[in-house]
Amino acid sequence: MATINQNYLKLPGSYLFSTIAKRIREFEAGHPDADIIRLGIGDVTRPIAPSIIEALHKAVDEMGTEEGFHGYAPDLGYAFLREVIAREDFAKRGCDIGADEIFVSDGAKCDCGNIQEIFGLDNKVAVCDPVYPVYVDSNVMAGRTGTYDEAAENFRNVIYMPCRKENGFMPELPKEKPDLIYLCFPNNPTGAVMKKADLQKWVDYARANDAVILYDAAYEAYIAEDDVPHSIFECEGARSCAIEFRSFSKTAGFTGLRLGFTVIPKDLTVDGTSLWSLWARRHGTKYNGAPYIVQRAGEAAYTEAGRAEIRAQIAYYMENAKIIREGLSDAGYEASGGVNAPYIWLRTPDGMSSWEFFDHLLSEANVVGTPGVGFGPGGEGYFRLTAFGSRENTERAMDRIRRVG
Ligand SMILES: Cc1ncc(COP(=O)(O)O)c(C=O)c1O
Repeated sequence: MATINQNYLKLPGSYLFSTIAKRIREFEAGHPDADIIRLGIGDVTRPIAPSIIEALHKAVDEMGTEEGFHGYAPDLGYAFLREVIAREDFAKRGCDIGADEIFVSDGAKCDCGNIQEIFGLDNKVAVCDPVYPVYVDSNVMAGRTGTYDEAAENFRNVIYMPCRKENGFMPELPKEKPDLIYLCFPNNPTGAVMKKADLQKWVDYARANDAVILYDAAYEAYIAEDDVPHSIFECEGARSCAIEFRSFSKTAGFTGLRLGFTVIPKDLTVDGTSLWSLWARRHGTKYNGAPYIVQRAGEAAYTEAGRAEIRAQIAYYMENAKIIREGLSDAGYEASGGVNAPYIWLRTPDGMSSWEFFDHLLSEANVVGTPGVGFGPGGEGYFRLTAFGSRENTERAMDRIRRVG
């Protein structure tokens, strides 16, 4: 008789964004004329940059020729892409990362969800609270956590590191010793960033405690301030304790094209075993590579023209972030983020819960955001707005929010 993976039953309810979609559907059913503006889900809205589209077309045409046809991609991804990544994203920032330490994939979600497979089930996981849900849920599915604690609204046997206003939305080194530490900076959902000296403390801590840091840098391209590291490999010693995830989704609008990569230094070992080798084995067995045409598109993001176009897109979103921050401030809200990240994290007014505020904003302003508590109990009393909307919608949403307060 077949049995199921019982760990899946530990997961409460549906995925956050399915719950939000359901609430919107219910509201729309009662208010069919409502003009709803969505600043909730973190999906981009700007079209793919012209240089990237051109590279895609060229690659598509190549695929229709005898000499240009490409079948399965090499396990780690095409060298043309890995080499440009190693040079532009790492060497130019002083990071010692080789092209053969880069694993090209179809995005950071899969990678940061799957990476836990190469670690033992007895590893203790530490996450920020609030947190991008994938880190926790993938460990629940694997059986690395206890059951869900309804009262605490979190999982047993996970170390939660609260990130709230009181600590500047920065995790503190945990009292209990973790084996795997998930960090994400610039942060989703809070929009906070960690300065280099602070990240160095985490690297030192991980090395001293034989822990591995799983560093999600999906929003690296949004960093505007100096002294904020773009990669954990800017920190001394990170090669021996860290894995980094990157994505083309928010950098170059690839949420629908799908491209990302994971960096695992060859000298990163756990108990004498190379994590690079384990991930290479896993990649070779369970993954068959991002499409050639998409890898060519990714390469085009690093050309001079591609870079300029992408920078302009990011500037567009960050102008939205400024409009949101200023609008919230005018309306009397307490908000942070939106300076080095496309997320603005606001305190719900009048002691409203995150979901009460979600309903309030939806019904009074017809604006959708994301309830902070959906990212963990530490997000209760907070709310996330994203800068990924169109300028027009962002401005309209903020006018409405100013009106309803
Ligand atoms: C922190 C973080 N990591 C990873 C991802 C997923 O990236 P990708 O589209 O490359 O799968 C997201 C997407 O929202 C994210 O917020």
